[in-house]
Amino acid sequence: MNEANDFLWWKHGVICEIWPRSFYDANGDGSGDLQGITRKLDYLAELGIDGIWLGPVNKSPMVDSGYDVADYRSIDPIYGTMADFEQLLAEAHRRKIHIIMDLVVNHTSDQHAWFKESRSSRDNPKRDWYIWHDGKKGGAPSNWQALVGGSVWQWDKATKQYYLHSFLKTQPDLNWRNPAVSQEIYATMRFWLDKGVDGFRCDILNYFLKDEQLRDNPWSLSAGIFNGFQKHLYSRGQPGMEAILRQMRAVLDEYKERMMVGEVYVAQDGPAMAAAFMGKGDLCHLSFEFSLLFTKWDAARFKEMIKRWYSVLPEEGWPCNVLSNHDQPRAVTRYAAAPDTQKRARVMAAFLLTLRGTPFLYYGEEIGMPDSPIKRSDVMDTIGKMYWPIVKGRDGERNPMQWDAGKFAGFSAVKPWLPLNADYSAVNVEVQDKEPSSVLNFYRKLTALRRAQPALQKGGFEWIESDKDLIAYRRTWQDNEITIILNFSGSSRAHKIDAGLPLKVLLGTHRDSGSPVDKGPLAVYPYEVLALGA
Ligand code: GLC
Repeated sequence: MNEANDFLWWKHGVICEIWPRSFYDANGDGSGDLQGITRKLDYLAELGIDGIWLGPVNKSPMVDSGYDVADYRSIDPIYGTMADFEQLLAEAHRRKIHIIMDLVVNHTSDQHAWFKESRSSRDNPKRDWYIWHDGKKGGAPSNWQALVGGSVWQWDKATKQYYLHSFLKTQPDLNWRNPAVSQEIYATMRFWLDKGVDGFRCDILNYFLKDEQLRDNPWSLSAGIFNGFQKHLYSRGQPGMEAILRQMRAVLDEYKERMMVGEVYVAQDGPAMAAAFMGKGDLCHLSFEFSLLFTKWDAARFKEMIKRWYSVLPEEGWPCNVLSNHDQPRAVTRYAAAPDTQKRARVMAAFLLTLRGTPFLYYGEEIGMPDSPIKRSDVMDTIGKMYWPIVKGRDGERNPMQWDAGKFAGFSAVKPWLPLNADYSAVNVEVQDKEPSSVLNFYRKLTALRRAQPALQKGGFEWIESDKDLIAYRRTWQDNEITIILNFSGSSRAHKIDAGLPLKVLLGTHRDSGSPVDKGPLAVYPYEVLALGA
C-alpha cells in the first residue's frame, strides 16, 4: 500500500462518542439534537477528530435512553428528522468527519411493530422473531438473570408463554437463530450504509446467542449484583457468533471503508473475549475493552491493563482504547482529586492519544468535564429509578456539555433535561479556548501531534523501563520515533533517558516545544507529560 495514502480513518484517526441528547440544543427544548451537533461540527473538526460515534437516535420510547428501538429506519423526533440526520452526515463528511451509528439489535423496544405482532398470537408470522418459551415446572423456563436484575423471562398473559429479555422487560431479545431476523437487520444496515453512514457501534454483541437447551446458569456470589449473582454460562456468549459477525462484516465490505466496533459487555475481566470478536481482523474491525474504566489511578495498574489487552490481540487485530463512555462515571470524576483534576486529565489525554490503537473520546472529556451530581428527582435513567439509592443510574455521565459560562452553560436556551455541573462557569469550552494550557488546547495539540507523527498513528509499541509511578514507551514507524513519558504522581520522579539520538520536546505540559532533553537522568515534574522526538 502506498505509505502516504494508507490513512484509514477508523484505525489511524480519533473517534469521539457523542450522547446526542446532551451535546447541543439547537431548537431550545432543553434536549440536545442533531441540528445541535451539526452546528458544533467546526468545533469538533478543530478538536481534530476523524469520526463521531453517535449514541442511539432511532425512534424509541426512551425507557433505556434509545437503547430500546421502536423503528430501526427512523429518527426519533427528540433529535429531529431524517433530513436533519442527512444534513449532519453531509456536513460532517465535508469536514472529513465520519459518522458511526449505534446498532442496537440484541433486542428491540416492546413498542416495536415486530414485537407487537409477535406477542399478538402464538401463530403470528413474527412469533419466532423473539424468544418465546413455555414455563418449566410451573415457573420460568430457566434461572437466567437479566443484567439489571430479576429473571430474563417475562410472562405474557395473553399468549401464556414467557419471552426473554436480557435487559429491561421492555427490551425483548430478538431471535438471532431465525434467519428472517438476521436478514432484516442486514437490510437495515444497508439502509444506513446507503445513506453514507460510515459504520456501526454494535451494542452487546456477546448477548445475541443463548443456549438452545436453556440450561440453568450456576449461581455465584462473586459474580456480583450486575450479573444477578450467577455465571452466565448459558444465557450469553454461545458458539455460533462468528458466523453472524462474518455476515455483518460481509455487509460492510459491500461498501468502501466502513467499519464496526463491537461492544462485548464483560466488564473487568474480558479482554480475551473482546479480542475474539475481532477474529483475525476479519470480524469486527475494533472491539471495546473496558478495563481502564474500572482501574484505579495507579500507573502500574494502567500499564498492566494495557499489557494484558495488547497480549490477547490477534496479530491482525487492532486495539481501540477508551477511558469514558455513557455507562460509567467519567474518567475525570473517577480520578478527581482536586486540585489535581485538570493535571490528571492531561496525563490521561496523553496516554489515550499516544497508545497503540484507536482512541475513543467521550464528549466533554476534552475539557476535563466531570459528571453532574444527580438527585433522586433528577433521575432519567430507568436503572437509577429502579435501584436508587443503591445504584444511581447513568445520568451523571450523560450530562449537558459545558460550552460557556452563560445561563445553562451555552447548552440550551432553557433548563436542560439533566442538571448542569456546578463548575461549568470555570470548566467550559469558551474559557478553555482562550487559555493556552487548558485541557482543551492540550487535546487539540495531541490530535495535531498524532496527525503529524505516523509513529503515533500506526507505529510499533515498546515499553520503556521506568519508576513505578511513571509510564514510558516508544512508538516507532520507520525512522519516525516518539518517546512518551507520563508521570502519574503528584511529585517528581527520576527517569533515565537512554536514546541513540539527542531528543527534543515535541509536546509537553511543563517544557517548551523544541527544548532539548539531555541523555541521562531527568527529573520528571509532578503530572508531567512529555512527548519526545528527534
Ligand atoms: C449497552 C449500552 C447500554 C444499554 C445496554 C442495553 O451496554 O451501552 O447503555 O443500556 O447496552 O442496550
